Amino acid sequence: MNSAKVTVDSIRAMKNRGEKIAALTAYDFPSAKLLDEAGVPFLLVGDSVGMVVLGYPDTTHVTMAEMEHHVRAAARAKTNALLGGDLPFKSYDTVADAVVNAKRLVAAGAEFVKAEGGREILPQVQAILAAGIPFCGHLGMLPQHVLEEGGYHIKGKRDDEHQKLLEDAKLLAAAGVFAMVLELVTPPVAKEISEKISVPTIGIGSGPDCDGQILVTQDLTGSFPWFKPRFVKPKANCAAEIKSAVAAWKNEIGAR
Ligand code: KIV
Repeated sequence: MNSAKVTVDSIRAMKNRGEKIAALTAYDFPSAKLLDEAGVPFLLVGDSVGMVVLGYPDTTHVTMAEMEHHVRAAARAKTNALLGGDLPFKSYDTVADAVVNAKRLVAAGAEFVKAEGGREILPQVQAILAAGIPFCGHLGMLPQHVLEEGGYHIKGKRDDEHQKLLEDAKLLAAAGVFAMVLELVTPPVAKEISEKISVPTIGIGSGPDCDGQILVTQDLTGSFPWFKPRFVKPKANCAAEIKSAVAAWKNEIGAR
């Protein structure tokens, strides 16, 4: 269990000590509490809630009201872990919207916010930080762009992508983000970014050399069996456990 409240400074300090940062998604009270009790220092109410909890086909359907609802539920766990929330699709198109909506997530209990993009959202990132709200960047494959990109593609293979990722990471770091997610970035590029910037990188499907790793908890625990990312090795099969518990109970009560 974490013995003390984790802050953005503690997360930064972990990189300085060379300590890997374990991060997971949590969308409600019990998952936030359980993951906190398991000692995970970094929890994210990701907009992946749209897919693994709300049944949407992708994250572009998630609304601010849904994010607030789930951030409130997770924040009631009063975790020692640092707890953040995703700004959903279209909620940070303008600087004014970005600040208003980041404040709404903070009012719901988020201790930081995350949004997807580099230079394209730099004014929004700067304004959120100027409002005193810690910000986590998100570069690489950006799930909120899945419709325009026509799928979830690995980033950093081409030289122009490699250079853009590196420059965007430097811009976000210079703006003052406390961490940044690197999603589906080729492992050598993720390694290079992690070495060249002082801000912790939290990888997902981006190889072992990021400063930390984040997963959608349902992928790790095998509780969303209908979609299995190739880069995740589930550590449990909760879906099968639930089905067999239900079958055992049905049997016990004599139901067919
Ligand atoms: O929405 C999400 O859960 C995320 C993480 C997996 C990085 O953005």
